[in-house]
Amino acid sequence: MSAVKIKKRVLIVGSNGQLGGNLARYYSNKVDQYEVMCSSVEERSLIDNVPYKQVDIKEKNSVKDLFYSFYPDVVLNTAAFTNVDAAESNRNAAWDLNVKAVENLIKYCGPVSARLIHFSTDYVFDGKNGPYSEDDRPSPINYYGRTKLASENLLFSSDIKYTLIRTNILYGNTGSGKVDFVTWVVKQIRAGNKINIVDDQIGNPTYVKELVSALADIVERDIDGIYHIAGAEWLSRYDFTLRIARYFNLPEISILRIKTPSLKQAAERPLVAGLKIEKAMTELSYSPQKFEISFSKIAAEENL
Ligand SMILES: NC(=O)c1ccc[n+]([C@@H]2O[C@H](COP(=O)([O-])OP(=O)(O)OC[C@H]3O[C@@H](n4cnc5c(N)ncnc54)[C@H](OP(=O)(O)O)[C@@H]3O)[C@@H](O)[C@H]2O)c1
Repeated sequence: MSAVKIKKRVLIVGSNGQLGGNLARYYSNKVDQYEVMCSSVEERSLIDNVPYKQVDIKEKNSVKDLFYSFYPDVVLNTAAFTNVDAAESNRNAAWDLNVKAVENLIKYCGPVSARLIHFSTDYVFDGKNGPYSEDDRPSPINYYGRTKLASENLLFSSDIKYTLIRTNILYGNTGSGKVDFVTWVVKQIRAGNKINIVDDQIGNPTYVKELVSALADIVERDIDGIYHIAGAEWLSRYDFTLRIARYFNLPEISILRIKTPSLKQAAERPLVAGLKIEKAMTELSYSPQKFEISFSKIAAEENL
């Protein structure tokens, strides 16, 4: 008699967002291997063929109901207050979602023995000396970064199983109707517009589908700890935009080079940021490709 394999139960929180949506699409093709549940704050799911429950992770009872109806083995928490400038003036809202809500998830991961895979950012660093490794000391310079660091500390002081992923500058299909950076650049320039792009913010843009493949490995093998998962190439936002323009045969003259202070943004930006990815490349199934490979996939998906 052959043993029945019990499927791992994977809960995606924030499944209507950019990363969550890509995770949801990935796992919607893996239902033979995993029991999958999507959840987000909106009434309806943007992904058709996976079960969905509305949740507001800021509300303890909403989290409790979700956890005690699905009993996840793994929770991927992609929900966050991600508007860096708005976080400066909406501090309570940013704290409630990025910190207090994570406390709620930790509270209910414990009793059901779930692993929490939580997402953070290179914005926990000050941007004086990037790219940063997992061992570097965080020192955020804006409120968004502070909330994300506070959420990291909640994990470290908890007794649940967790994996902390720091990433930066996600690009690639959003699935939500919002355009990602690559599509935005292509559409703006093709429409004849000039775009202002900073040349003093440096990082390693991350193709969301490559991030998802590394996460799938973490889920499959129950890997603990902190991982920096980001793109293979470290460059300024301006140079990244040039790479997009060259791939899509767009006039480079449409890209105007500017400096961050000229934007007068509410939140200060860590400039020389980005993440070292050697640990992820060594220990995970993760080998990010050159940008052009991802651009070709985005071009096909978005009809660019
Ligand atoms: N995007 C990046 O470049 C980047 C870079 C570094 C790190 N990260 C981190 O990666 C993670 C995913 O980012 P993302 O860009 O995919 O985020 P996103 O697109 O903003 O998605 C977040 C999702 O969570 C939902 N949500 C908001 N409040 C919620 C609540 N109370 N309960 C449940 N769901 C809620 C949002 O719904 P609404 O849209 O309706 O609010 C949205 O669907 C975040 O932790 C972020 O800090 C992202």
